[in-house]
Amino acid sequence: MAPSDSSNPQRRNFLKEAAAIILGTIGGVIPVLAGLVVLFDPVRRRQKGSLDKIRVTTLEAVPEDGLPRKFPILADRTDAWNRFPSAPIGAVYLRRTSKTSVEALNVVCPHAGCFVDYRSDSKSFFCPCHNSSFALNGKIADPKSPSPRAMDGLEVEVRNGSEIWVKFQNFRTGQAEKVPLG
Ligand code: FES
Repeated sequence: MAPSDSSNPQRRNFLKEAAAIILGTIGGVIPVLAGLVVLFDPVRRRQKGSLDKIRVTTLEAVPEDGLPRKFPILADRTDAWNRFPSAPIGAVYLRRTSKTSVEALNVVCPHAGCFVDYRSDSKSFFCPCHNSSFALNGKIADPKSPSPRAMDGLEVEVRNGSEIWVKFQNFRTGQAEKVPLG
């Protein structure tokens, strides 16, 4: 009569070794996964806090005549492992729409991401990369402009009577819909 599996010492040893290898592999993978979660935690935390408003300037620094002025956006930038205090992360045009209210436009062109210039002679915005032009309120000025949408307006708030705070965001370029990045 042929010996059963359980009575075959070679077969038993093989099964024991296979089980040890599988358990050892599982035991090794779990700490590695836990380590990766800890390693990339700063990236997750940065993404959660990335939509806070940033203090950009004060009302006094924005021309009273309704013409735009460009301001850098400075913020504490954090990558996965380092923190860079007050680093430039973008720029905005601010323009008064009344004595106490302000409009904010991202300087990035929605066509392909070049920086839009302000032209004081025509009182309009112009992108030198492919000649898109925009009115002071950011709307497309020339229908031949290749930009698929107006300049990207940003949420802005005046706090404590004069501080200007902007919710700075970048958006996908090359499409009609305004879709936030990140
Ligand atoms: S990137 Fe501005 S017009 Fe093309």
